[in-house]
Amino acid sequence: MAERGKDDVEPLPRGGFRCRLCRVAVANKPSLEDHLRGKKHQRLENLRTVRQSQELRSVFVSGFRKGTPASELSDYFQTYGEVVNVVMDKEKGVYAIVELQNKEMLKKVLSEPQHNLGGQKLRVKPREKKDFKYNPPRKQGSARQEQLNPEKVAQKLCEADDVDAQMSVLVQLFEFSESERHLRDLLVTLFQEVFQEFFPGSVMIPFGSSVNGFDVSGCDLDLFLDLEKAKHFQASANGSSVPQDGASPKLALHSEDSILSDVDLASATVPEVLELVAAVLQKCVPGVHNVQAVLTARRPVVKFCHKESSLRGDISINNRLAVCNTRFLQLYTEADERVRPLVYTVRYWAKQQSLAGNPFGGGPLLTNYALTLLVLYFLQTCSPPVLPTVVHLREQSGDTEQAIVDGWDCSFPKDSAQCGPSRNKESLCSFLAEFFHVFEDYDFAGGVISLREGQLLSLPSFLSSEASSKFKTGSFNLQDPFELSHNVTANVNKKTALRFQLCCRSAAKYCRSLQYQRKSTKGKIWGLVRLFQPGNLEAEAPTDKELVINLPLTMCQGKDSHQLWFQKVCAGVMFVFEDVLKCSFSETQQGLGEEGASIAEPEAKSELLSSGFKRPLDNGDDSLSPLAKRPRNGPWLPIEKSVTWNCAVWHHVWLGRRRIRRQLDPIEKTNLLELEAKVSALISQQEGEARPAEPLLRFAVRAQFNAEDTSDEQNTHISLSFALDPEQAVAFKDFFHFLQNFLPQMLEQYLAAQIP
Ligand code: UTP
Repeated sequence: MAERGKDDVEPLPRGGFRCRLCRVAVANKPSLEDHLRGKKHQRLENLRTVRQSQELRSVFVSGFRKGTPASELSDYFQTYGEVVNVVMDKEKGVYAIVELQNKEMLKKVLSEPQHNLGGQKLRVKPREKKDFKYNPPRKQGSARQEQLNPEKVAQKLCEADDVDAQMSVLVQLFEFSESERHLRDLLVTLFQEVFQEFFPGSVMIPFGSSVNGFDVSGCDLDLFLDLEKAKHFQASANGSSVPQDGASPKLALHSEDSILSDVDLASATVPEVLELVAAVLQKCVPGVHNVQAVLTARRPVVKFCHKESSLRGDISINNRLAVCNTRFLQLYTEADERVRPLVYTVRYWAKQQSLAGNPFGGGPLLTNYALTLLVLYFLQTCSPPVLPTVVHLREQSGDTEQAIVDGWDCSFPKDSAQCGPSRNKESLCSFLAEFFHVFEDYDFAGGVISLREGQLLSLPSFLSSEASSKFKTGSFNLQDPFELSHNVTANVNKKTALRFQLCCRSAAKYCRSLQYQRKSTKGKIWGLVRLFQPGNLEAEAPTDKELVINLPLTMCQGKDSHQLWFQKVCAGVMFVFEDVLKCSFSETQQGLGEEGASIAEPEAKSELLSSGFKRPLDNGDDSLSPLAKRPRNGPWLPIEKSVTWNCAVWHHVWLGRRRIRRQLDPIEKTNLLELEAKVSALISQQEGEARPAEPLLRFAVRAQFNAEDTSDEQNTHISLSFALDPEQAVAFKDFFHFLQNFLPQMLEQYLAAQIP
């Protein structure tokens, strides 16, 4: 780490860091290093050095006549040496900061018993030492953003009378103000006018949260540039017929400098047209900057920023379905007034828990759209339902409302009255608790959530349906209500899906408490406020029952006996911890495999942790070619049904792996175990090759073979139970989440490599 920046850095939970100087948080050590080397940090460090040196050479002067010019003060202090600068208190003219040439001059000035200027006795003292504080430049709308900072939001929420009222307050706080809505309307009109010039007949249609009823102050402006009519205009202009209305397309199409002059909209590819859109935005729309075409996205877009308002937005040209689902979401918000507050609440909760939002796009979190659909699905499936299914709405739609968009049936009524009133009269407070309860144990990977049908479709039956051919199944399967082959949560990885579930579990538990249900009479936080505290609920220590990873018999490869399989898995576990994750791993001498010994018992835990838990000598065992020295078939292999190890983790090997993996040479990626070993080694290196004095984590792992009846293959499995000191529980949580995914995956690789 750059030495100079060290004092500015404060560690955060989960391996993150905060730079106090620049007021930014980063996820891990490598990012911190990047930040400390970066331009912004360097600039602020220099600025601080300059300010501090100025401070040490300056005096604070008062007592002079009001209106005394700076030059008079400067002349007076020149008698002691050179005066670099005089800064007057402009408002009142009662004090000045006089910057002197150097510290020697400062000493001279301060040692003078009395200073007089124009018959007035001056008070001259050293400048007060102030901590250098960086104040980021204020952007327009920042007053509103300030109001929306989590502390202010919490304060407002605590003032409400009950949870339902808190949810209404949340909507009022976050929805667009009149002026924000007006600004967006003006921008859309401006864009429309400019693009009409270049693409006569084109229409600029806003979609997404700006218009779907879930507007959040400062959210992106999503725009769809509909070029369908423009194509017709162009075709007819290239023939001889001139369109009757709109701006003169001929001008735009045939003038020398028209950017459209040699582009045929009908045959141009999406990237070609988007390059044009980017050029128009850059050159012709006033106040727009940071224009960038992102052509690799599922729906390619041109991103832009409106300078004055700091509003960010996207323009896409093949997103007619989004316009359609935007109207559909709008319909649902109009159908029942509880929809908006519930969605706002879940969205804010998910943002605070870092479960949704993907602020920089393309991440593993749920998109806001996906999260919104999940809440709507919940309202379709509660009993009695609050919202009708999409199939039901299609049946309600009239002839004029029939619509096929990009081949998908998007028919639904325009009028929300067709949704009918719901018989469900539950309060918002209960709905929210129920939402968390429903999803705390939901099988997101084992089925497909369908808003069209209003039910969880079983994976096997879904996979045999037509829509499934292009549907990317994953850890979270949520089908778009119209584009049935699109999994809107295809980007969500196993870790996020699991975290989502765990967060729902903690939230559901909290919602059963009085602290959630009743306003505090003692001024304590209550209701939604605690729910919204980042990581607070999730950070609760997992219980011993939850610290288990089960390895099913299906992992057993070849024709191994159960005993042999168990032995191989044990060897594999050891291999993954020691060789892949670079942990210290040693078998305990203690017979925890003995019948009746429970790893969950506190005495057992502490004994375990103290027994044989030594920092291993550095024996050059960090080979990057783990397979070269395995498998181990030494005498350590268990003959009993369980084996227990102690483990120490020295580096944050569970963080930032993907980024490092991406940086590795593709040749190095051929063997997954070797690749992962290399990733761990690089993480350790980045954190400093030497092991710290104390490991980050210590725990015990017990592998146990479980089979009531060995012919019952379904229930035969190996469980890996983890035990640790309670004070390590919170820190261990993230590592454990990582292991839940990583360990079985690596074991499979390991076992596969063992097959002769
Ligand atoms: P967002 O996920 O950004 O949702 O997708 P949002 O509701 O606009 O929320 P903000 O902007 O993050 O606050 C924007 C729109 O893109 C379409 C939907 O119309 C959505 O409202 N979309 C997004 C899809 O059609 N499919 C997707 O998988 C994702």
